Amino acid sequence: MRETEQRATWTYTEQFGEEPELVASAPGRVNLIGEHTDYNGGFVLPCAIDRRIAVAVGPGRRGGFQTRPYQTRLYSADFDEMRQIDEKDSSWADYPRGVVWAMGEAGHEIRPFSAAFAGNVPLGSGLSSSAAIEAATALALDAFFGLGVGRTDLAVICQRAENDYVGVGSGIMDQYASLLCEAGAALLLDCRSLEARSVPLDLEAAGLALVVCDTRVERGLADTGYNDRRATCERAARMLGLEELRDATERDLDLLSEAELKRARHVVSENARVLEAVEALEIGVFDEFGRLMYASHASLRDDYEVSTPELDTFVRTAQQHGATGARLTGAGFGGCAIALVPMSETAEFTDACEQAFAECGFEDPAFYEFVPAAGAEVAN
Ligand code: GLA
Repeated sequence: MRETEQRATWTYTEQFGEEPELVASAPGRVNLIGEHTDYNGGFVLPCAIDRRIAVAVGPGRRGGFQTRPYQTRLYSADFDEMRQIDEKDSSWADYPRGVVWAMGEAGHEIRPFSAAFAGNVPLGSGLSSSAAIEAATALALDAFFGLGVGRTDLAVICQRAENDYVGVGSGIMDQYASLLCEAGAALLLDCRSLEARSVPLDLEAAGLALVVCDTRVERGLADTGYNDRRATCERAARMLGLEELRDATERDLDLLSEAELKRARHVVSENARVLEAVEALEIGVFDEFGRLMYASHASLRDDYEVSTPELDTFVRTAQQHGATGARLTGAGFGGCAIALVPMSETAEFTDACEQAFAECGFEDPAFYEFVPAAGAEVAN
């Protein structure tokens, strides 16, 4: 068992006075390329990271504080607090509550249960800790109640939880990645058909490290221009008589102007870049993959306008130090950026970034190195 899974198990036993019936865990993700394309029906290429949220689940009938009738109880080891199922309260517990609600909406009966959570996905930095808690909850409940829901449907349920319960209008990438990514691979997902395939990503063989920089600029999706970007894309699609910008071509762009033109130009070019990036990965041409990463960043900065001075500084430093590729990852507006850096040069590179951030008077960034990890799993 992984450390997070062990911690969830111990916490469950401590809080509920019995052994859990099972423990499941799900990872955060970084998106390698394909940003703000998911809610436009386009392509994304995320990979799971080796940071996870685990949940131990059982009936919880023996706990000392339990009253009748039995009620669902949720406990977080990291926040050291117990929450009930009933009331939405803008805490971490809204994610599992949302999943229970969305499973009910999908026609699955969820009887009372007890759950203990423990995780190590950095919170609020764009590595999808919320998708990880949703995916872990969904997979655990599916196994605990023997529902037999497929993983794609679980991802749809988790997205529903995020959109309609938590109230963030995100696409399906994060939940899908958390549930379906495989170790050692990225996942090419067609967000319209929800068909996906793993694309092997052996960074070690290529002598490259995936460096993630957390700019420490927190971004709450609900408070940002995320919903505004989404609305502009929907407007642009309507102006073109299309259901989604996925179907727009470069020639269609001539019919648009101002914000609609810029946002649509990003989506059209980014979808093409994802497919080119997959081709480059499949033949192991990382230089081309890196060039596409830089191009993606420029498009997110200039056309989609979701970058920040911190993210731009990271990418510029990467370029100056000869990194293979770099770009912001996730929604933007702060959060994280990634770079592919020759393995022997990562320390020098992160030092240079720290120095560049200090010179600009930015917060000290945090760095992680990840290898593509496994998606959600039931541990026992
Ligand atoms: C956030 C959302 C995703 C996706 C990205 C941008 O991570 O949760 O659905 O839209 O932003 O690519």
